[in-house]
Amino acid sequence: MNKRVLVAGGAGYIGSHTVVELTKAGFEVVIVDNFSNSDPSSLDGIRKITGIEPIFVEADCCDKEAMRRVFERYDFDSVIHFAAFKAVGESVAEPMKYYRNNLLSFVTILELMKEYGRHNVVFSSSATVYGDAEVLPVTELTPRKPATSPYGATKQMSEDILRDMVFATEGLNGIALRYFNPIGAHPSALIGELPRGVPNNLVPYITQTAAGIRECLSIFGDDYPTPDGSCLRDYIDIVDLARAHVVAIERMVEGRNKERYEVFNVGTGRPVSVFELVKGFEAANELKLNYKVAARRAGDVTAVWADTTLANEELGWRAERELNDTLRAAWEWEKYVRGNK
Ligand code: UFG
Repeated sequence: MNKRVLVAGGAGYIGSHTVVELTKAGFEVVIVDNFSNSDPSSLDGIRKITGIEPIFVEADCCDKEAMRRVFERYDFDSVIHFAAFKAVGESVAEPMKYYRNNLLSFVTILELMKEYGRHNVVFSSSATVYGDAEVLPVTELTPRKPATSPYGATKQMSEDILRDMVFATEGLNGIALRYFNPIGAHPSALIGELPRGVPNNLVPYITQTAAGIRECLSIFGDDYPTPDGSCLRDYIDIVDLARAHVVAIERMVEGRNKERYEVFNVGTGRPVSVFELVKGFEAANELKLNYKVAARRAGDVTAVWADTTLANEELGWRAERELNDTLRAAWEWEKYVRGNK
């Protein structure tokens, strides 16, 4: 059994945690990253946690010749593709940056997989493909809604590209994992999320507010039709999410996949409001957060959370970490980052 995996974008937030979990599960990992939205320090963190020096190649996944050299040199049979930009607002302002990077990197990797006869690929998709769903929780059969941002469009298009390539390529298997809201950090606090500039996402904004870097957290809307008026999301611990990639790869490597192209929701199945998350962070870390209610943020859906039955039953995976522990890890990581700056 080939237990080698190429992790494209392996120095990033989800990528680095996945590298750690793959290594723990006995996989040998080749990381490719160009640090366009990540930091070399994550490789130190991976080394400290696993005790193993990860194989690392600095390259842009859109650069076919550079990627060809990676395929020539290493005989991995599986690929996990994380190498993509992820800021929704930026994608609206700079659509071509997103279409070029997110699509070209994936197309390049799939072409090389076909050419070199590599068999299994996991794609990092997103709950954004469901848009403002009419029925909650969403299952994998919930219809996708037209994308509301170029970022979301690249996730939908990439799913379709993967599906089409799998059906057109003998021996190729693909799994798209639709992540809900990944949060937290490794319990060691040696790797975590490193947002550039002002964070867009809730938890990094919370931890930076707690650290005094941001003055005040704005809660975007308290007049939604939800129990406390704030939006509902499904916050999935980053280590749980990383483990889902390991079981997805194992499923394909061991030939247990039922279809050659499969899709799974990766969430907890539990809706949590913005107020609950803020209060949970305060309680878990015994601190007070400076926050205020502000206007709704354009483009936010009221509520989305996952039906995780398929992942539970088919992948044998479920979210295990308690929200409390996740929010504690997020704060430990923020303090570690500040201490090392
Ligand atoms: N929020 C605040 N204040 C902030 C930041 C966020 O109140 O400073 C709220 C948002 O309004 C939302 C919730 O916190 O209700 C979560 O917001 P995030 O930005 O953390 O996450 P989103 O649910 O907006 O984004 C996620 C993924 C994206 C994906 C998007 C589309 O991070 O990749 O869902 O649904 F595209």
